[in-house]
Amino acid sequence: MFDTMTITKAGAAVCGSLLLFLFGNWAADSLYATASESHGEHAEEGEDHGPTQGYVIASLESSSEGGAAEEAGPTFEEVFATADAGAGERVYNKCQSCHKLDGSNGTGPHLDGVVGRAVASVEGFGYSDAMAAHGGDWTPEALDAFLENPRGNTPGTKMTFSGLKDVEDRANLIAFLQTQ
Ligand code: HEC
Repeated sequence: MFDTMTITKAGAAVCGSLLLFLFGNWAADSLYATASESHGEHAEEGEDHGPTQGYVIASLESSSEGGAAEEAGPTFEEVFATADAGAGERVYNKCQSCHKLDGSNGTGPHLDGVVGRAVASVEGFGYSDAMAAHGGDWTPEALDAFLENPRGNTPGTKMTFSGLKDVEDRANLIAFLQTQ
């Protein structure tokens, strides 16, 4: 009770799976060949893989631990203890376009006397809601955290400054601001 169409389809299906089977075999062979070549002469695949992968993972772990330790570096407090206000004055060039040190406001509030000042407390400056909600005083530590990443530290701030990534720059700058 088979019509021609069914037989054709069946035939095609058989041919198709045969081809797939052959292709699969060939692919497996070449993969195996590559794998054993890279593992030396008599590589028993399964056994050889385990130790190799274990080693790779172990070395990745130890190298990332090393990296983290290096990145941590000295803390802000350590760097701030020996900060150089003279060098900080040069870092302040990056702030000058928006901040003044003569008691008048620009794009940003004046920064003379900012160290120890209550956050968002300059009369007549229109702070963002985010800055108004920050709270606390501008201690060296609070300034350090804000200046490293202004918009990360105070999401919604209208200070469009990308931040000072270098802890020495931040420490020197804050030491300079302390003298103003
Ligand atoms: C592109 C302009 C711009 C630059 C550059 C800039 N600021 Fe600001 N800064 C602002 C604005 C605007 C505000 C007000 C932020 C708000 O209300 O959200 C602000 C706020 C501040 C505040 C909070 C002051 C307060 O009275 O609470 C500090 C501290 C500060 N900036 C320090 C710095 C320092 C230090 C630099 C340089 C590393 C710098 N800013 C660079 C525009 C700038």
